[in-house]
Amino acid sequence: MWREAIQQVLISEAALQRRIRDLGSAITADYRGRQPVFVVVLNGALIFLADLIRAVDLRLTIDCVALSSYGAGSVSSGMVHLRKDLDESITGKDVLIIEDIIDTGLTLHRLVHHLSARRPADLRICVLLDRPARRRVDLPITYTGFELPDTFVVGYGLDYRGEYRNLPFIGALRSEVLQASPPRETPAHPDLAGERCLDIP
Ligand code: IMP
Ligand code: MG
Repeated sequence: MWREAIQQVLISEAALQRRIRDLGSAITADYRGRQPVFVVVLNGALIFLADLIRAVDLRLTIDCVALSSYGAGSVSSGMVHLRKDLDESITGKDVLIIEDIIDTGLTLHRLVHHLSARRPADLRICVLLDRPARRRVDLPITYTGFELPDTFVVGYGLDYRGEYRNLPFIGALRSEVLQASPPRETPAHPDLAGERCLDIP
């Protein structure tokens, strides 16, 4: 059974849903009278976005970006490729970035630079999970679901080699599964040539 790769449930489905309802209420109160654009970072934050927007009582729109970090090391190299850009203009709009997890912070740091150049009226970040132990760049996170220990997690949108996104909870993988192939060895994608790279310092 593929679920046997999960060693432990760290955040249950019920706890996720409760916390997301609270985040939705906070966002609803903070953005009252405004029409935010929720920018979801594909693919990991998809499930979070789907539940979060149904907990938000506002007139809102969504747009998507897809990013991938790559490098030879065991942590993000700091180079982030934009694999898919926004469809609509965000100039003058209130933008809320929706991300699954902030780890080193490099991915969100690059995305914030990229989106800031479009001159939104306001730009904030909402993450489901925060793993502060590995942070390399500090950036303000307005909404955080849960803080995590220094453990690689899967489920509720987060993957290991593309799998486990469909688990309804956040869990830790068995060490044997991770030891077989370390999760943060992110090889350069063969199809990256010609894609735009956000190499803003
Ligand atoms: P950062 O650039 O180091 O902050 O990494 C953020 C990105 O790495 C997230 O968007 C995730 O895609 C991925 N990531 C970081 N930690 C985990 C994890 O524990 N499980 C799955 N993906 C992760
Ligand atoms: Mg991600």
